[in-house]
Amino acid sequence: MTPSSLKQPNTYLYQQVINLITEMRINGTLQTGQKLPSLRNLSTSLSVSIPTVKQAYIELERQGLIRAKPKSGYFLTQQNKSEQPKKARLPAKPMVVSRQQLIEDVFKSIHQPHNLALGVANPVAALPITKTLNRTMRRIMSVMGDKALHYGPVAGYEPLRRQLAFSYMEYALPMAPDDIIITNGAQEALNIALQCVAKAGDVIAVESPCYFGILELIENLGMLALEVPICPEDGLSIQDVASAIAKHPVKACVFSSTIANPMGCELTDDAKQQIVQLLENNDIPLIEDDVYGDLYFTEKRGSPAQKYSKKGLVITCSSFSKTAAPAYRIGWLATHKFSQKCAQIKRALSCSSSHMNQITLFEFVRTCDYDRYLVQLRSILLTNKVRMCNKLQQSLGDSVRISDPKGGAVLWLEFNKNINSADIFQLALEQNLSVSPGTLFSPSNRYQHCIRLSYGLPWNTQLEEGLGVFADICLTLQKN
Ligand SMILES: Cc1ncc(COP(=O)(O)O)c(C=O)c1O
Repeated sequence: MTPSSLKQPNTYLYQQVINLITEMRINGTLQTGQKLPSLRNLSTSLSVSIPTVKQAYIELERQGLIRAKPKSGYFLTQQNKSEQPKKARLPAKPMVVSRQQLIEDVFKSIHQPHNLALGVANPVAALPITKTLNRTMRRIMSVMGDKALHYGPVAGYEPLRRQLAFSYMEYALPMAPDDIIITNGAQEALNIALQCVAKAGDVIAVESPCYFGILELIENLGMLALEVPICPEDGLSIQDVASAIAKHPVKACVFSSTIANPMGCELTDDAKQQIVQLLENNDIPLIEDDVYGDLYFTEKRGSPAQKYSKKGLVITCSSFSKTAAPAYRIGWLATHKFSQKCAQIKRALSCSSSHMNQITLFEFVRTCDYDRYLVQLRSILLTNKVRMCNKLQQSLGDSVRISDPKGGAVLWLEFNKNINSADIFQLALEQNLSVSPGTLFSPSNRYQHCIRLSYGLPWNTQLEEGLGVFADICLTLQKN
C-alpha cells in the first residue's frame, strides 16, 4: 500500500482506508484470517493520521469485516459467502408481455419519498454530485442566456455527440458524431432502437431475468418476448442464444453487453464477439444496453458489443442516468447503419432532448471531473456491495442465494420457492422499505421467489436498520 492509494477528493480519509481494505479483500490481496497492518504502520504507509486508521478499523469491525484480538491486532473475519442464484430453467416460448400494471403498482410505491429506496437502481444516490452539476448549469445559463433554453437539434448537441463518439476510441471503435443520437435516457434509446428494427408481432429475445423497462417497451410496442436464461456468473451463453434463434423466428435481441440488471453478471469480450458474429451471420440486429458499463468492479471496463460488429447490425444504447443525473434524462444510441432512421423516430417521439442538460453534461464530461467522479463512485458502490452482501448473509444465512455483481448497483436475491416476493414487497412497504419483486423481471411469472435490492444508496444507520427489518421480514415468511 502506498500513499498514492488515497487520492479520492471529497471522500473522507477514513472511508478511503475502508475502501482500500475492502478492495484488497475482494481482489484476494488480503485473505480471511490475515492480520491487518498495525495502526501505526498503516498510518505511516498511507500518510494519514493514526486516529484516521483507527476510525476505519472501528467501522470495519462494526460491520463484522474485521475482528480485534486483544493484544494481537486486527484480523480479517471469515466471510460466509452464500451461493449464487441458479440459472433459470428454460426453454421458453415467445410470449405476449403483460407487466405494465405490476410495474405501475410497484413504481407508485418505490418512488414514495419517505421509503428507503432499496427498490430503485439509482447508483448516483450513493455519491450525489448535485453541487458540481448545479454550478456548471449556472455558469452555462449566465454565458448562453435564453439560447440554452431553446430547442436543440433533433440528434442532439453536436459537441456532446462528438465527445461521445470520441469516447468509443478507447475500444478502437471508430464512431462518428453522426452515428450518435441523443435521447431522453437509455429508455428512449431502447425504444427507438426497437422501433427501428422490429414491428408489432415480432419476436424479441431478451435476457432472463431482464430489466423490466425493456419488457414494458416490448409490451407497449406489441412485440413478443423470448427469454434466454443468463448464468449468474458469466451472463448469456452462445449455446442458449444459438438454440433460441434456431427454434424461434427472432427478429432482434436486446441484451446487456456489459453489466446486466438485475443479475450483475458480465459477458467476457470473447463471448460478446461470438454472440455478435452468430447474430450477424443470421442477419439479426442486436440492441445492446450498456447503461452500467462504466460501473464495473473488475480490472477494466468491458468493450461494447458494437466493437465486434462487421455488418453494422448492433445498436448501442446508454445514458448518463447511472453515472451522473437520472433526472436530466440524457441518453444516446450509437449506430452506423441505422442512424438516419433512428433520428426520424426520435423526431416523431420527442423532437429533441433537453438542450440545457446536454450542454451541462458535456461540460462535466469533457473535464476530468467526470472520470474522477466515476472512480469514486465505483469504489463506493463496491464497498456498499460487500457490506450489503455481508449483512444479508449474516442475517439470512443459507436461506438465500445472493448474486455477486461484477458492477452496477443491485443484488439479486433468490429464496426458497415457498417464499413469495409479493409478500416481502407488501410487508416491506408497511415498514417504509421499497424493494423490487422478482416477477417484474420476467414476462412468464418466473422469479416469484426473488428480490432485487439496490446498494446505490449512502451507507448509514438508516440503511443498516432497513436491511435488518428486511431480513426479519424474510425470516418470518420463511418460518410460516
Ligand atoms: C438495464 C437498464 N437499462 C435501461 C435503463 C433506463 O435508463 P434511463 O434512466 O437512462 O432511461 C435502466 C434504468 O434503470 C436500466 O437499469
